Amino acid sequence: MGPSPFIVHELTGHIQSIFLVEYPDRILVLDGGCHCDAVLITRFVTRTLRRSMDDVRLAVVTHMHPDHAGGIMLLRRRHHIPVASHAAADSWYAGVGGAIQHVLDIVMAWFVVIRVKSSFRRLWYRRRLAPDHPLEDGSALPGFPDWRAIAVPGHTTHDIALYHESTGVLYVADLMVQVKSTLTMPIPVSIPELMERSLVRLAALPVRTLLVAHGGRIEHPSPKIFTDLVDHIAARTGIRYALLMLLCGFPAEIRRTKRALAARRPPGERA
Ligand SMILES: [Fe+2]
Repeated sequence: MGPSPFIVHELTGHIQSIFLVEYPDRILVLDGGCHCDAVLITRFVTRTLRRSMDDVRLAVVTHMHPDHAGGIMLLRRRHHIPVASHAAADSWYAGVGGAIQHVLDIVMAWFVVIRVKSSFRRLWYRRRLAPDHPLEDGSALPGFPDWRAIAVPGHTTHDIALYHESTGVLYVADLMVQVKSTLTMPIPVSIPELMERSLVRLAALPVRTLLVAHGGRIEHPSPKIFTDLVDHIAARTGIRYALLMLLCGFPAEIRRTKRALAARRPPGERA
């Protein structure tokens, strides 16, 4: 792996880390945190880095949850920063089920605010992103062709991870979370079967620096980080978890994806 052409900055956001990739001539934002974090990003770019917001050429939304998409909406409105996300990102909060889930996810983010002892600020954001650059699995990032999107569904149906192959930097967003210094599965794991496949796929990548939205930066991670998490998926049981999953199961996209997966299984394996 070669020398890095960029610096990765980690900002302590409202309830998660925000990563900014700074090149000499441009900046890439890997998720924008919550709505209230847009101000934090702007201050960091203009005051700490002493750069213009015009240098921020792209912001990527890895999935539509409030602590990933919320800040980007405001950044785009104020600074006209183009946004990239999975082409299917807007299907997550579509329809009545999606609208209910959007409200519930913001309420659940309030609980995270309480748990991490953060302050009470605005979390509300629009549930429709309409990305300027829709991405597919393997897409190079516009303006940052050395980065590519990897489709890693499981947490939602449209998650992407972002990988810089020549330096081995991988941003996994919410594919895993750190709780009391232990890496574990996020809530929800909407499609366990796809989450397992995504983790196994990432375990095969050469990774030198792993970036986790709720966990920070991990240098020289072992591939076992990913494969060990596969066991965590099946280990999640109990009434509390079942209830949480009920509260996270409103998007029609979950049922549609599960039906499509079932239809692809051989007849003997279908439930
Ligand atoms: Fe999430």
